[in-house]
This record gives sequence, structure tokens and C-alpha cells, in this order.
Amino acid sequence: MPTRSSLSICLLAITTFLRAIQAHTVLTYPGWRGDNLHSNGTADDTFGLASYDAGNGTLHPFGMQWEYPCGGMPMSQNRTKWPVKGGAIAFQPGWFQGHSSAFMYFNLGLGNNPANYSFVMQNGLNIVGPSKEPWPGTFCLPQIPLPAGLEVNVGDNATIQIIETALHGAALYNCVDITFAEPDDVEEVTEQNCFNSSQISSNLIFTTEALASGSSMSQVSLSAMILTAVMAVIALV
Ligand SMILES: *[C@@H]1O[C@H](CO)[C@@H](O)[C@H](O)[C@H]1NC(C)=O
Ligand SMILES: *[C@@H]1O[C@H](CO)[C@@H](O)[C@H](O)[C@H]1NC(C)=O
Ligand SMILES: *[C@@H]1O[C@H](CO)[C@@H](O)[C@H](O)[C@H]1NC(C)=O
Ligand SMILES: *[C@@H]1O[C@H](CO)[C@@H](O)[C@H](O)[C@H]1NC(C)=O
Ligand SMILES: *[C@@H]1O[C@H](CO)[C@@H](O)[C@H](O)[C@H]1NC(C)=O
Ligand SMILES: *[C@@H]1O[C@H](CO)[C@@H](O)[C@H](O)[C@H]1NC(C)=O
Repeated sequence: MPTRSSLSICLLAITTFLRAIQAHTVLTYPGWRGDNLHSNGTADDTFGLASYDAGNGTLHPFGMQWEYPCGGMPMSQNRTKWPVKGGAIAFQPGWFQGHSSAFMYFNLGLGNNPANYSFVMQNGLNIVGPSKEPWPGTFCLPQIPLPAGLEVNVGDNATIQIIETALHGAALYNCVDITFAEPDDVEEVTEQNCFNSSQISSNLIFTTEALASGSSMSQVSLSAMILTAVMAVIALV
């Protein structure tokens, strides 16, 4: 029996698919800042810049999602509650033409309007879809932890940033503004709002230890880089 939320996710999937054949990531849980599957103007209008305001509205000829840090979207007023000990993130990665695979990153920015998104929450993921055409389908990580060593309190505000890196290296950005809450006060995670579509698979790119070990080129980070490179080559074939 489909619930209202699964129906609305489905509708969102269909409408965004029809509207934005050449794009991007949709964050379905815990929500997003808003619809940024949008482009207007031309590269000539913006002199080649990602965005440019010629006086009557900012133009985004390449598509808003390419813009750091949150895909062209300002901080939102409608925050979603998210568990203070970490929780689920569900997204649709396949709105992207020409690529059957992508790398996903999950970061946190602290405060009402984060100055940076340097807190890594989850190991980088290599998402593998069915084809080079845009593909529908949802992927969900049911328990994304908080960044190692970070302590937050109920009521603190933060922003979750999801980055999807295409094989050519450019990145799509998407954010959701959250308020940390007790797990009981958060929208329940169900099979309707958190599931993996069968056509999407994934591989870990590297481990959090490799990230935490910092800038020194340790054995671990070196092998993680080699693994990433090997997977990128495999994905290209
Ligand atoms: C916040 O509001 C925008 C604009 O109405 C909407 O598109 C978005 O889905 C909302 N986000 C959340 C997390 O409720
Ligand atoms: C913005 O201004 C330009 C000319 O300066 C005009 O051609 C265009 O129609 C305007 N666009 C909107 C949405 O008002
Ligand atoms: C282009 O789209 C952006 C984002 O939706 C909007 O803010 C802006 O006003 C639009 N620009 C024009 C000129 O219509
Ligand atoms: C990022 O922001 C946090 C506060 O949210 C701050 O403590 C930290 O120093 C900043 N990191 C960088 C690299 O600027
Ligand atoms: C968190 O954001 C909400 C809504 O934007 C705001 O009312 C509240 O004061 C913020 N909390 C803190 C601790 O700044
Ligand atoms: C989706 O797949 C990932 C990677 O295998 C796994 O960690 C996650 O638990 C799966 N999600 C669900 C809802 O089963």
C-alpha cells in the first residue's frame, strides 16, 4: 500500500525526470533546500560565469546544482529535524545524462548558515547505475553517523551537504538544513522513504580513517587513491 510520502516521492521523481532530463541529484530524505533542478540564461548572458545578475534576476546557465556549496540555493527557513546521533539520508543520484556512475560525498556544516562544510560524515561512495541515460531510482543510507569526534546537542542547527561528482570531475551540490532532535521527534525512517532501488549498486571509495589521517600520504590514503583511480578507469570502460 503506497503511502502519501512514497507517492509524493514518486511524483517528484516523475516530474523532475520530465523537466530536467540532463540533471542531477534529488534529496528525498530528510528533504532539501528546494528545487534546484533549474537553469536559465546562456553562457553568453553570464560571460561564462556560473551565475550572474544582470539586474533583473540571477541567471544560472549551466544549472544551479553545479554551484558550491548548496547548488545555488540560499539557507532555507524550513529546517527538518534529524537525529542527534546521526540518521538516514535518501537521494536519487541518477538525473545525469552520459554517466552510469558517480561519486557521492556526505558532509556537515555547523550553525545556522555554515561557513564551511568541512565535516565529513560518511565514506565516499561510488554509485553505479544501469546506463549512461538518466536513470530513476533511490539510494538510502539508513544510518549516516556524525563526523568522528563531533558532539552536537538537541536544538543545534546544521546543514547536510551532498556532493555528486561526475566522471569528468565536476560536482553537483545539494543541501538540507536541519535541526538536531531526539530520534523520536524525527520523521520515521520506513521502507517507503528509505530504500535502495535494485538498479543502483555502490562501492566504498575510501575509509573515514584515510580521511582522518589528514594530509600525510599514509599507506592507507595512498591505496585509497589507487583504488579510486582504478574504479574511475573501470567506470569509464
Ligand atoms: C522547504 O521549502 C521549499 C520551498 O517550499 C521546498 O521546496 C522544500 O522541499 C522544503 N524543504 C524541506 C526540508 O521541507
Ligand atoms: C531581463 O532584462 C532583459 C534586458 O535587460 C530582458 O531582455 C529580459 O526579458 C528580462 N528578463 C526578465 C525575466 O524580466
Ligand atoms: C533565473 O532563475 C533563478 C532561479 O530560479 C531566479 O532567481 C531568477 O530570477 C531567474 N532569472 C530570470 C532573469 O528570470
Ligand atoms: C569550519 O567551521 C567550523 C565551525 O563551524 C570551524 O570550527 C572550523 O575551523 C572551520 N574549518 C575551516 C577549515 O575553516
Ligand atoms: C535554528 O533555526 C531555527 C529556524 O531557522 C531558529 O528559529 C533557531 O533559533 C535556530 N537555533 C539556534 C540554536 O540558533
Ligand atoms: C543500500 O545499500 C548500501 C550499500 O550496500 C547499504 O549500506 C544500505 O544499508 C542500503 N540501504 C537500505 C535501505 O537497505
